[in-house]
Amino acid sequence: MKVISHRGASGYAPENTLKAFELAARMGSRDFEFDVHRTRDGKLVVHHDYDLSHTAGAPARIADLDYAELSRLNAAAHFAADPSFQRVPLLEEVLEIAAPAADWINFEVKNDGDAYPGIEAELLAALKGRPGLFEKALVSSFDHGTLRRFRALSPDLGLGWLGHRLSEILLAPAVLKARAIGAASFHLALRIAFRPNVALLRKAGFAVRVYTVNLKKDALRMKEIGVDGIFSNYPDIMDKTE
Ligand code: G3P
Ligand code: MG
Repeated sequence: MKVISHRGASGYAPENTLKAFELAARMGSRDFEFDVHRTRDGKLVVHHDYDLSHTAGAPARIADLDYAELSRLNAAAHFAADPSFQRVPLLEEVLEIAAPAADWINFEVKNDGDAYPGIEAELLAALKGRPGLFEKALVSSFDHGTLRRFRALSPDLGLGWLGHRLSEILLAPAVLKARAIGAASFHLALRIAFRPNVALLRKAGFAVRVYTVNLKKDALRMKEIGVDGIFSNYPDIMDKTE
C-alpha cells in the first residue's frame, strides 16, 4: 500500500506550501497529492480552499486576486507550530520540488461548477511541458464535469474519481460514469471506505485510494482491506510506533 503525501508533509509543515513539499521529498515521499486553483491573472497555484480564510485568515478568493496580491498573504498563518511566512506557491514551483522526487503525482483540480473555465487545457499544457511528468500524473476532481473535459482533451491522461458521499461512489451509476470517462481510480473518504465497496471497486478494475488517513490504526485497517494507497499528512505514518 502506497502512502501519498497529502498537501505535502502537511502534518509537519504548513499544508500545500513549498516547505511542506520540500519536507515530504526529504522524508522520501515518492507519491504526492495537492490541490490546484487559478488566480485572476491566470497563474495555476497550489492551495486547498477557494479562498484564504483558513490558511491566512483572509477571506480573499484566489480567483479574485492577481498572483502578486495573493503572494503577499501568509498561507502558514494557521499553522501553530510554524506560522512563519509562506506564500501560496505557483504550481511550477511545487513541481520543481515534487517532479524529480516523485513516481506519481495526483493533481486534484478544485473546479466546482467550472469555477476556472479552461483550466483543463492549461493544466494539461503544464503536464506536457515538463519531460516525463504526463506519464506520472493523475488528475482527480470532485467535479466530474471537469474530469469529462480532461478526457475530451486527452485520451490517455490518468483520471481519478473522487467521492466523499456514499451515493457518489457506491451506486452502479458512479461506476458506469467513471468507466465511461476511463477513470483509473476511485479516491474515497475514509468514512466510506469499507471492505465490500473497496473490493467491488477493485473487482471492477479501479485502483482504490483513501483520504485522509492520519492515524496508524486506520492506515493498518486500510492495508488490511486491500486499498492501493492512502493519502496522509504524515508520510512516515506506517513507520510510527503507536
Ligand atoms: O485528493 C484526496 C483528498 O485531498 C480530497 O479531499 O478536501 O483533502 O482535497 P481534500
Ligand atoms: Mg486534495
